Amino acid sequence: MQPLVAPSLLAFDLGRMADEVRALEAAGADVLHLDVMDGHFVPNLTFGFPVIEALRKVTTLPFDAHLMVSNPDDHLDEYARVGCNWISVHVETCSHLHRTLGRIRELGMKAGVAINPGTSLASLDAILTPGSPADFILLMTVNPGFAGQKFVAGGMERIAKLRALVDERVGRGNIRIEVDGSLKTENAADAVRAGAEILVVGSGIAATKDWKTTIAALKGSGSRR
Ligand code: DX5
Ligand code: ZN
Repeated sequence: MQPLVAPSLLAFDLGRMADEVRALEAAGADVLHLDVMDGHFVPNLTFGFPVIEALRKVTTLPFDAHLMVSNPDDHLDEYARVGCNWISVHVETCSHLHRTLGRIRELGMKAGVAINPGTSLASLDAILTPGSPADFILLMTVNPGFAGQKFVAGGMERIAKLRALVDERVGRGNIRIEVDGSLKTENAADAVRAGAEILVVGSGIAATKDWKTTIAALKGSGSRR
């Protein structure tokens, strides 16, 4: 199966956001990845509800909000209200992970758990179960905070480890694996072979001339194992 491609808006021209989103939709994006940062959990600030609400009017693409915030529980209703479809919360920020994921689903959104490169995959143990409260895992292959960073060493092996854990404990198809950080046409096939099903790609699309060709190449990155 082809991977889904989720361009990360952060890497594009934020002064022309609406036009960039329309162009990405026309170029074949499957999902729009929105990086919400609070300047606390990560050393950067991006955008929040008013911006997402404004973008909702220019596209029908599903919105995948990646919450890099210390207190994700405080605002889940707002993300639903402004039109987000998928929400990922960082496992590093959640004291009551099942409750948080349950609330996201209650609000009608897909619930994801994001994990930093430095956090052990063992912290996902409690949710990698049959009937998991999560719909997807967002595996970071950079330390979150900025677009255009370098792929962390050992990232591919970590995707493969997570793939094996999901297949063994939850069953393929029940939780999807999304990978985020420094993916491009050059390494996307390796990521998909290792087990990625959704590719978040920022500068790997933005820095190329023809986004349609790039997105088509990313989608054609080989089939999952
Ligand atoms: C990093 C963000 C990513 C980032 C991806 O903190 O979560 O989504 O924007 O950008 P690239 O693909 O350039 O690493
Ligand atoms: Zn992201």
